[in-house]
Amino acid sequence: MCGIVGYVGDRNMESVLLVGLERLSYRGYDSSGIATISGGELSYWRTPGKLHELEKVLQNMSIRGTVGIGHTRWSTHGEPTEVNAHPQVSTNGKVAIVHNGIIENYLSLKNKLSAEGFLFRSQTDSEVIAHLIDRYLQTDLAAAVERAVLDLEGTFAIAVIAENQPDRIIVAKKGSPLIIGVGKKENFISSDIHALAPHTKEIMYLDDHELAIIEANSVIVKKINGAQVTKEVHTITWDEVVADKGGYDHYMLKEIHEQPSVIRNIISKMVSPDNALIFDKLHISNGDLNKTNRLIIQACGTSWHAGLVAKYMLENYARVLTEVDISSEFRYRHMLSEGHAIVAAISQSGETADTLACLREAKSKFFKVLAFVNVKGSSIDRESDGVVYSYAGQEVGVASTKNYIAQLVTLYLFTIHLAVLRWTLSKEDAVKMTNALKRVPDCIEKILSQVEKIRAIAEKYAYSKEFLFIGRGVNYPSALEGALKLKEISYIHATGYAAGELKHGPIALIDKNLPVVCIATKSSTYDKMLSNIEEVRARKGRTIIIATEGDTSVQHLAEDIIYIPEIEEDLSPILVAVPLQLLSYYIALKLDCDVDQPRNLAKSVTVE
Ligand code: M6R
Repeated sequence: MCGIVGYVGDRNMESVLLVGLERLSYRGYDSSGIATISGGELSYWRTPGKLHELEKVLQNMSIRGTVGIGHTRWSTHGEPTEVNAHPQVSTNGKVAIVHNGIIENYLSLKNKLSAEGFLFRSQTDSEVIAHLIDRYLQTDLAAAVERAVLDLEGTFAIAVIAENQPDRIIVAKKGSPLIIGVGKKENFISSDIHALAPHTKEIMYLDDHELAIIEANSVIVKKINGAQVTKEVHTITWDEVVADKGGYDHYMLKEIHEQPSVIRNIISKMVSPDNALIFDKLHISNGDLNKTNRLIIQACGTSWHAGLVAKYMLENYARVLTEVDISSEFRYRHMLSEGHAIVAAISQSGETADTLACLREAKSKFFKVLAFVNVKGSSIDRESDGVVYSYAGQEVGVASTKNYIAQLVTLYLFTIHLAVLRWTLSKEDAVKMTNALKRVPDCIEKILSQVEKIRAIAEKYAYSKEFLFIGRGVNYPSALEGALKLKEISYIHATGYAAGELKHGPIALIDKNLPVVCIATKSSTYDKMLSNIEEVRARKGRTIIIATEGDTSVQHLAEDIIYIPEIEEDLSPILVAVPLQLLSYYIALKLDCDVDQPRNLAKSVTVE
């Protein structure tokens, strides 16, 4: 996690760094800081808390300098305090670094350096980098950085400035993302393109084990401990729409309301007027897709839930064995490279460390890798054989909403595509399925028109200590997603369960205080679901039922009921997600939680 930025040039240093950090704050917001060199002197400012704390400290200063680096932190080692914030500096205050990643051998390095007299002030793993560079620094900063990183185990993207060479930033990378923005008489560095978008569209991607010397008029890239390399400059062709709250109180609420237009946009991009499906970056041949007898989906969090929903569809329509794994688990299992398997990575950010690591592992075993990703130009986008974009637009709220819906839609379209290709679905049925999808945006709008009712229900249960979410079949993952949404933004403990599993343990939790959100839309397991709700009611659980419009037979089982429009079962998780998002949102709001930036989280999880 963490975001790093840097700038060499004549612009207003403070503003370039702060704008960059603001745009990277989705990567962590525990603390922030900047360091610059002006008149040959290195200065730095750091504050715990969100970026506005740093802005407050800087507001009456005029920060000068022609080189500067900045950092927004998601804490791994050490609490979010000022001393643990970055930049971390050498004992003599002449070298400053910002770091994204984890230094796994920091303790042994720290012991060694402490014994040599280097003074450690923080509990971070990153501080060793500043001291190591200082230790190796004679005259050439790049040489010192190059020597220092050879001692590091773990992952890093670092940017370094030092008083003795005040015209340059040295960056180096292994395992964490780092890009260089190329300008005229100025250059930038950043963890991703969001921070660079206002300044340049010319981008160089630094690869692992590379180091770069960034000056205002030049960028030199070389292999760490190796030769100089020529890097391609990519011109970003897509327009980044800068997200604002659009009149809503929070990004999350805005993003929930954007969902109908997100789906319409996907349809316009991926479905032609005659219902042909368009996958322009799939880049996996029809032959390979046809031969595939195993799909291995790996993802984290909400993206994993999208994968779980897709499994039902892929196995049902495309008749392909589909495994869905949590990336951090999959990564340390022994991946069997048998059969014609394709590994699919699902990720909004395209930077999730575990998902990326699995993808790399899969490639090293010669699997084809297909990504379902939202952020163009992200590591997962660039490193996969083929890509299906989510087209959700920039998602700012840490809780994923519109991107989840977009993932479900694109996975649905991919299923249809694969099934037709494999002759397991007729073209006529494919068109029927595609047409069914076209009704979804209107259905979501109908759900959104019930916002006040859902808000009232949310407020009624907001002070409950815990929640249970249950669903079956294709809506079992919806239960998991509902519980995740609630706990991450409201800090209320919530568990999602397959309703049929209740009686194997969790039913013991049910009493007159426990709200149980039951997903009971019309489906092939509807009757079974009703029986499960009966079991909850029999134990006095407080049932909030999500049901299909017009279904009166669930009413007697519900303390509260939210109706959603009737839709095909495969598409129901898309609709079901919306009231679950709204329930969480309004509960968190009632509890006065920071909805868009919940504690301890970051939008992009770039550490293991
Ligand atoms: O960017 P990714 O989709 O790879 O991120 C995966 C998870 O970190 C993410 O879905 C997380 O669970 C969200 N906060 C859920 O709302």
